[in-house]
Amino acid sequence: MTAYEEIHQELLSRPRSWLVTGAAGFIGSHLVETLLRWNQKVVGLDNFATGKKQNLQEVNGLLEPEQWERFTFLQGDILDPALCRRACQGVDYVLHQAALGSVPQSIEDPIRFNESNVTGFLNLLVAARDQKVKRFVYASSSSVYGDDPDLPNREDKVGRPLSPYAVTKVVNELYARVFARNYGLETIGLRYFNVFGARQDPHGAYAAVIPQWINAMLKGAPLRINGDGSISRDFCYVANTVQANLLAATTSKPGAVNRVFNAALNSSTTLNELFALLHQRLLPDHPALRNYRPIHLPVRPGDILHSRADISLAQNLLGYAPTHTVAQGLEAALEWYQRNLS
Ligand SMILES: NC(=O)c1ccc[n+]([C@@H]2O[C@H](COP(=O)([O-])OP(=O)(O)OC[C@H]3O[C@@H](n4cnc5c(N)ncnc54)[C@H](O)[C@@H]3O)[C@@H](O)[C@H]2O)c1
Repeated sequence: MTAYEEIHQELLSRPRSWLVTGAAGFIGSHLVETLLRWNQKVVGLDNFATGKKQNLQEVNGLLEPEQWERFTFLQGDILDPALCRRACQGVDYVLHQAALGSVPQSIEDPIRFNESNVTGFLNLLVAARDQKVKRFVYASSSSVYGDDPDLPNREDKVGRPLSPYAVTKVVNELYARVFARNYGLETIGLRYFNVFGARQDPHGAYAAVIPQWINAMLKGAPLRINGDGSISRDFCYVANTVQANLLAATTSKPGAVNRVFNAALNSSTTLNELFALLHQRLLPDHPALRNYRPIHLPVRPGDILHSRADISLAQNLLGYAPTHTVAQGLEAALEWYQRNLS
């Protein structure tokens, strides 16, 4: 049995209480879905800054009524300390996902990003501490590696942050460590790389590359690649990210707590390879894509050219064993996007 299968059995036999912040967002809604499928009691918190009611409605439709009844939703902002306190009441584990996520937007509006991602984060840490939650797991980001050129990225070596967004995630990691040290709050940070899957928003100037491209291809709209296509990323299907969260929340392995882990695949896909994978997969159903080609634009200033995670720490300490390769994840995600966007 894998570590993930073991905690599945354990949680099914002894359900716990969870708080998922950012519950109406992409990753948060997948955490809510899996936890409710596993018959857990879940509180979700979101202010719909980027998340959607529709994501939660979809999760509702995928579950048995008695599973959905174990879900309580609090609409509100993590900038409200009283709400954070209420949300943490009686909760065993916090999975903190609520944050603003776009690097270019953070360059335009650093103050708003600092409020949600730093002050909001601090409010939740204080609430989790005061309500004596068992563990606080939070979303960090590969952006903390900044300008470090050494690949694959290892948790113990980071570069200088390149955006206000990256600064907020660095500060999250610092605060988490300080709360562990001063108040004994157990924390684990997960540095997500490029997560993708169903319910990731394909619309708007700040959409992530995979949903944005699938949307463009399905609509026959122009698809833009920044640079010559050699930029590469460690794309990670959301089921792997969910696994990392649930393992982090429940691990009892010595030395696993009060640290950060990469949560990705340690696999590198260039933008040209990503385009080829999507094109190949969509062409049979969409013959109009036969002569469809991307438009190449200059690389955006501040863009990291390559990122790839060393995941051995999570494998060794959390028992993390990704279930989906990039190709398997794309297959699952495409099924959803074709159903929802076509
Ligand atoms: N998706 C990725 O590839 C990726 C990579 C690295 C890190 N992350 C981190 O993972 C987390 C989840 O990202 P996602 O991709 O699901 O993004 P998302 O935008 O879909 O989800 C974030 C959710 O947080 C909510 N939120 C934002 N500010 C809030 C506030 N002040 N109060 C209450 N709710 C608030 C939003 O409404 C949204 O539902 C974020 O912390 C993000 O920084 C994501």
